[in-house]
Amino acid sequence: MPEDKFSFGLWTVGWQGRDPFGDATRRALDPVESVRRLADLGAWGVTFHDDDLIPFGAGDNEREAAVTRFRQALDATGLVVPMATTNLFTHPVFKDGAFTANDRDVRRFALRKTLRNIDLAAELGARTYVAWGGREGAESGAAKDVRAALDRLKEAFDLLGQYVVEQGYDLRFAIEPKPNEPRGDILLPTVGHALAFLERLERPELFGVNPEVGHEQMAGLNFPHGVAQALWAGKLFHIDLNGQSGIKYDQDLRFGAGDLRSAFWLVDLLETAGYDGPRHFDFKPPRTEDPDGVWTSAAGCMRNYLLLKERAAAFRADPAVQDALHAARLDQLGRPTAEDGLAGLLADRTAYETFDADAAAARGMAFEHLDQLALEHLMGAV
Ligand code: GCO
Ligand code: MN
Ligand code: MN
Ligand code: MN
Repeated sequence: MPEDKFSFGLWTVGWQGRDPFGDATRRALDPVESVRRLADLGAWGVTFHDDDLIPFGAGDNEREAAVTRFRQALDATGLVVPMATTNLFTHPVFKDGAFTANDRDVRRFALRKTLRNIDLAAELGARTYVAWGGREGAESGAAKDVRAALDRLKEAFDLLGQYVVEQGYDLRFAIEPKPNEPRGDILLPTVGHALAFLERLERPELFGVNPEVGHEQMAGLNFPHGVAQALWAGKLFHIDLNGQSGIKYDQDLRFGAGDLRSAFWLVDLLETAGYDGPRHFDFKPPRTEDPDGVWTSAAGCMRNYLLLKERAAAFRADPAVQDALHAARLDQLGRPTAEDGLAGLLADRTAYETFDADAAAARGMAFEHLDQLALEHLMGAV
């Protein structure tokens, strides 16, 4: 239902199945058709790269016509555009990146391309502008001076921030980390790198992150932990939901496929933390699927989210779980370590002088019982 705030990129359901080894297996989808089908499935929003809507290099008339048709489809279905982004990776001009390309002309073009689409994003009511630096990176050492490239990346984001402020747009940026693919190594490879970087910008308040499930998992990281740190920092501006099985190429499976346990903890986190942003699916229906399979896959993303939400809520509400959380001393973790301050801590002989480390070490944490309860809820056994 629209109140679930599910959104999809035009490029997700519209992916034609082209990969490094094979040609497209599906026909191109008209964005208007995607809007209609997504609305029929109960989605709330649709997102796009500039080039998903307006072919690269299109003239003003073609651009105008594409936007008008898209807007009419939005009006007819009630779908909103919560987010937009720039394609800074498909055209060969971006082969060495965009905001950090060694070629200055390419960097200036990338900025102008982005600024142009920011105008459209604002016009369509988007509140978030995603920046995924897919080709900001390198395959070899001397090819990229990483410190200089980070200067250029900061320069680009500072200019974009200045622009939205000067235009009076109600738009914030969400940086999307990814460790590799299509570049051998990409700048800002993880949520942690992006969080540290954005604090160095001129207007850090305008910048947050757009973590993607599979991207952190490609680096072997715990996705819910990364998202929790983004939430803790007040920086979870957007999220890309999909599925991934371990450290390998970017699979972009439908949400819930791949690491289901991690998906359970992610939904538990988002729902209990009160995240109220879009639940955005950035997946690729496998190239084995025909057009019907695409919509089955899209519906599966939403259904899996809702099922996990139900399971996670049941887990939290179960009295046995509450007891297990207590036994595992989660309530203690929620309590400050030294409400009595440094002086109190230093004066407290039980904290050190008479503390029985062996007795404390002997206390079991009871985590296995807690996790077994979680698994049983996840498997529908409770
Ligand atoms: C990927 C990325 C992209 C971005 C998209 C929006 O690995 O391909 O996830 O899908 O999310 O370009 O910026
Ligand atoms: Mn991905
Ligand atoms: Mn993504
Ligand atoms: Mn992707």
